[in-house]
Amino acid sequence: MSDRAERLTELFAEAGIDVLLVTDLVNVRYLTGYSGSNGLALIGPQLRMFISDFRYQEQAAEEVDDSFARRIAPAPQGLLDLVGEALPAGELRLGFEADHVSVNQHQCLRAQLRDDVDLVSTSRLVETLRAVKEPDEVARIKAASALADAAFERLLRERIVGRTERQLALALENDMRQRGAERVSFETIVAAGAHGALPHAQPRDVEIREGDLVVFDWGTELDGYCSDCTRTIAAGDPGTDARDVYELVLESQLAGLQAVRSGRGGKDVDGVAREMIAASGYAEHFGHGLGHGVGLEVHERPTLSTRSDDELQASNVVTVEPGVYLPRQFGIRIEDLVVVTDDGCEILTSVPKQLVVVD
Ligand code: GLY
Ligand code: MN
Repeated sequence: MSDRAERLTELFAEAGIDVLLVTDLVNVRYLTGYSGSNGLALIGPQLRMFISDFRYQEQAAEEVDDSFARRIAPAPQGLLDLVGEALPAGELRLGFEADHVSVNQHQCLRAQLRDDVDLVSTSRLVETLRAVKEPDEVARIKAASALADAAFERLLRERIVGRTERQLALALENDMRQRGAERVSFETIVAAGAHGALPHAQPRDVEIREGDLVVFDWGTELDGYCSDCTRTIAAGDPGTDARDVYELVLESQLAGLQAVRSGRGGKDVDGVAREMIAASGYAEHFGHGLGHGVGLEVHERPTLSTRSDDELQASNVVTVEPGVYLPRQFGIRIEDLVVVTDDGCEILTSVPKQLVVVD
C-alpha cells in the first residue's frame, strides 16, 4: 500500500504540486487502507499523514498502513482545521482534489493556511492509479463477480412469472448477503416489459407476466471491491421482435468485447459496439456509454463512451454493456465485467448470454 503513495508522488511534478491533500474517502481508502466515513490523508515525498476523529481512533490504528503517521482531531475541530499544522514549513504548493472539494471546504482551507501555501487544483490523480488494478484487486473483483453470478443463477432456477420486480430484487440481494457480500454495489435493477426501457429503472411492486423480457442489473461489494453485471431474460416466449433485438444487442456486446485490448481508446471501443446498433436503425435507442471501470467504486476510470479520452491499459477492469431501449415496449442490456490484457480481455462474468427463457 505504501507503494501506491510512492507512485502517486511520481505524478506531482506534472501536476505542479509538492503535497496532495486527499479528501475523497475512496481515494483515502485506496492509499491508506482506512475504510471509515471520516478521514483524510496528506501525501508528499517526505510526508504520509492520516487524520480522522475520535470515533475512528481504533479502526485507524488497525487499518491505516504503517507508513502513515496518524492524528486524531480533538472533538470540536473539523479535520481540515488540522491540515495547516501538518504541513512542512516554507513555500509549498498544496494540491487538493477539485472533483471532491466543495467551495465551502476550499474557503475554509484557504482561511487557515499560511500565505506561503498555494492551493492548487488537481483532478483524478489517485483515480488514475486506481484504474490499473493490482493482482490482489483483480482477485477481489473476481470473487465479488463470482458471488453475484451464483446468486443470479440460483434465482433463475426459481419461478419468475407472478413474482414482483421488488421481490426478485430483494431475493437477489438477500442471497448475495447470505453468501458473504458486504452490500450491493448499486441499487439492484429488475425491470420487466416496458419498464425495462428505463436504463436505470427502480423495481416496482408489479408482477412479471408471461412473455415479459426482464432486465436484471445487479452487483455486490465484497472485501471493498464491486461487481457489476446485467442480463436480460425472457419470462416465457417474448416474440420475434424482442428476440431479434436481443440478438442485435448480443452481437454488439460480443463485438465490444472483441475490441477491448490495451492501447485501444475508450471512444474507439464504444464506437465498435455502437456502430452495430446504429447500422440496424437503433442508434437513438442506445443512449448511454458502452462501459466504465469498476473497482472500489462501481463507476470509475476508464470510461468507454463517445466522449471518452481514456486509453485502455492492461489490468483495467471495465464493463461492456450495450443496450437498446424501446419506449413502451421493452429494454435489453447485456453486461460483462472484464480485465483488459495486452491482446484482449479476460471475461470475469460467468452467467450465459444466450437468451434464457424461464417460467
Ligand atoms: N450497473 C449500473 C450501471 O452501470 O449504470
Ligand atoms: Mn455497469
